[in-house]
Amino acid sequence: MQTPNLLKARQRTNEQTLTKTNEYIVKENLKKLGLKKKYYIKTYGCQMNEHDTENIKAILEEMSFEETPTMDNADLILLNTCAIRENAHNKVFGMLGRIKHLKEQNPNLIAGICGCMAQEETVINEILEKYNWLDIVFGTHNIHNLPNILYTSINKKDLEVEVLSIEGNIIENIPVKRDSKYKAWVNIMYGCDKFCTYCIVPYTRGKQRSRKKEYIIDEVKQLIKQGYKEVTLLGQNVNAYGKDLPEQYTMSNLLEDVAKTGIKRIRFVTSHPWDFNDEMIKIIKKYDNIMPYIHLPLQSGSNKILKLMGRRYTKESYIELYKKLKEAMPYSSITTDIIVGFPNETDQDFQETLNVVNECKFDSAFTFIFSPRIGTPAAKIADNVTLEEKNQRLQQLNELINKYSKEANNNYLNKTVPVLIEGTSEKNTKMLMGYTDTMKLVNIEGPKKYIGEIVNVKITDVKTWSMDGKVIE
Ligand code: SAH
Ligand code: SF4
Ligand code: F3S
Repeated sequence: MQTPNLLKARQRTNEQTLTKTNEYIVKENLKKLGLKKKYYIKTYGCQMNEHDTENIKAILEEMSFEETPTMDNADLILLNTCAIRENAHNKVFGMLGRIKHLKEQNPNLIAGICGCMAQEETVINEILEKYNWLDIVFGTHNIHNLPNILYTSINKKDLEVEVLSIEGNIIENIPVKRDSKYKAWVNIMYGCDKFCTYCIVPYTRGKQRSRKKEYIIDEVKQLIKQGYKEVTLLGQNVNAYGKDLPEQYTMSNLLEDVAKTGIKRIRFVTSHPWDFNDEMIKIIKKYDNIMPYIHLPLQSGSNKILKLMGRRYTKESYIELYKKLKEAMPYSSITTDIIVGFPNETDQDFQETLNVVNECKFDSAFTFIFSPRIGTPAAKIADNVTLEEKNQRLQQLNELINKYSKEANNNYLNKTVPVLIEGTSEKNTKMLMGYTDTMKLVNIEGPKKYIGEIVNVKITDVKTWSMDGKVIE
């Protein structure tokens, strides 16, 4: 049993990250372990986790497991968890109640959790105490070892916990089963060293490790061959890409090299304002296949709160960057993340956040109430904002955000924009759906032959969170 340790998770040394190209192996005797067995995996959290799930699925299928869309007939259930806020935790613990029930009916059912919650010391302590009927728990650093973890658990018929609190290396040979045939996640870096005071990610994902450019470019070239139209370069703060590499190679160099592969669409998330430089703006503007869409988390519009959050930029420098981006690319869409109710946030501080929103008029935003995460510095600051105030601020902020989302969408009415058609709409299978270059969701009238293609769509109606359109043939 290897359990996580908060102090170790916080450590950062100067050790160079190792790239390992043959660390993942499925031993011969494990290739049939999942024969005639079905697996179900539920994913919480960010794109990083969604992409990890695509790796986990491929690993399980290399062991002959088959995917099932429902939990009820599964022989193996995995929850790929997120630790970012308390409600993410609660959802998982709620789901464990349901799984326990299924396990009582079927003692052969294998149940496990992985992902960011598994990296938390307090969560593992709770699991060992109250949920020790689970079979496997593994972390974000040892996904490649899943075949062996499963095997050990099945043989000893007991809970197998393998969670490493390490800075981490990069494992290059993990297989992937992608959810989409047209757009793909591509990791460009793992972990995070920013240590914003409220955030658990640097503890759950280890130190910042940039993937070597050869592997990234190769992956994109392979995707083009397989017919992919869009890649999203993934990292917790992609603008810091390369800072940990021995050679001088930055995010703007990488963006340019990925653009030169000729893939039709390139996106990247998430951008931390701190590392966004002029060179990057130049490259985004220069290449048509780098999409005019930037997710630029603000978190707060009050300098006092930004300082307490450890974000290392000011409201003024954020607005300056925002304006630079809009000046260089007036057509671009810019979205953000905002936290309300951070400890010591006064009405005045909150008003300053609203002022920045009024100035930047974001295309959309993810908004959250501050959630104290055990082990982070912000969790130790006395939380002096009442729940009522937090809820009220969130509501007021959302109203303003929605107003600007609708206004931004209004600009699209009767215009013709490029959309990558991803499939049929969930609500109405007679309609198609896809995203514009600026990442706006569009429900579209048009023939199914366009699925997987980038086509021109005329916008016929706009709402707050989506638009309607018609394919222009
Ligand atoms: N790496 C990204 C953010 C990843 S987490 C960045 O730095 O921009 C996604 C969002 O969750 C954050 O932008 C933040 O708004 C929110 N978040 C993170 N920790 C939180 C916490 N403890 N409470 C509430 N929201 C939080
Ligand atoms: Fe968390 Fe900050 Fe890192 Fe984003 S940059 S993952 S908010 S510590
Ligand atoms: Fe959640 Fe981990 Fe992502 S905490 S937001 S799944 S990096």
